[in-house]
Amino acid sequence: MEEKSVCPWWMGYFLLIPIRKFSHHPSKLLKHFIKEGMTVVDYGSAMGYFSIPMAKYVGEDGKVYCIDIQQKMLDKLVRRAKNAGVEQQIIPILNTKEKTFMGIREEADFVLLFAVAHEVPDREKLFRYIASMLKPRGILYFAEPPGHVSKEEFEESISFAEKAGFVIREKPTSKKGLTIVFEKSLNI
Ligand SMILES: C[S@@+](CC[C@H](N)C(=O)[O-])C[C@H]1O[C@@H](n2cnc3c(N)ncnc32)[C@H](O)[C@@H]1O
Repeated sequence: MEEKSVCPWWMGYFLLIPIRKFSHHPSKLLKHFIKEGMTVVDYGSAMGYFSIPMAKYVGEDGKVYCIDIQQKMLDKLVRRAKNAGVEQQIIPILNTKEKTFMGIREEADFVLLFAVAHEVPDREKLFRYIASMLKPRGILYFAEPPGHVSKEEFEESISFAEKAGFVIREKPTSKKGLTIVFEKSLNI
């Protein structure tokens, strides 16, 4: 399996800079999909740029599983969640290269996979795993950074997602855009 380079933990701080809101405004991108009481997943959460707003959208009756392979990212995320008063909604999960966490089974209403798939060596398996977490008709918001990911690699990820049982629901219009919103099919 091809080795992929993973975003170093200290880069997590750069992902939190306020100016990022101009290109990736959490509420503009995600609020429309997330309702109070939902169970959602931020896959490859880093320090929680999206997880903290997601925790606010699901409210006290919802939960946000934040999955990452770097403990330092999750530690900072938890501190940020405490400061924001949303720690009870946040469930940090450390994935390891040896053993992928498989504890969420058809439970999630929504999964965010933002700027992560290109770091994962086996993307085919990744999309199967994400499909297994979602309820039927659950939503996967998938985005990749255009600077790091070619159109061909993105198209290949789309075909892996379709093989795993996703159908395209929306292609958000963005000039920068490598973004697709999928829905998990009822027939898998
Ligand atoms: C470029 S960062 C993006 C973080 C976040 N989604 C955002 O947009 O702010 C990618 C993150 O994915 C994590 N990651 C890489 N491979 C992973 C895997 N197999 N499972 C879970 N997280 C992973 C990295 O540790 C890193 O925190």
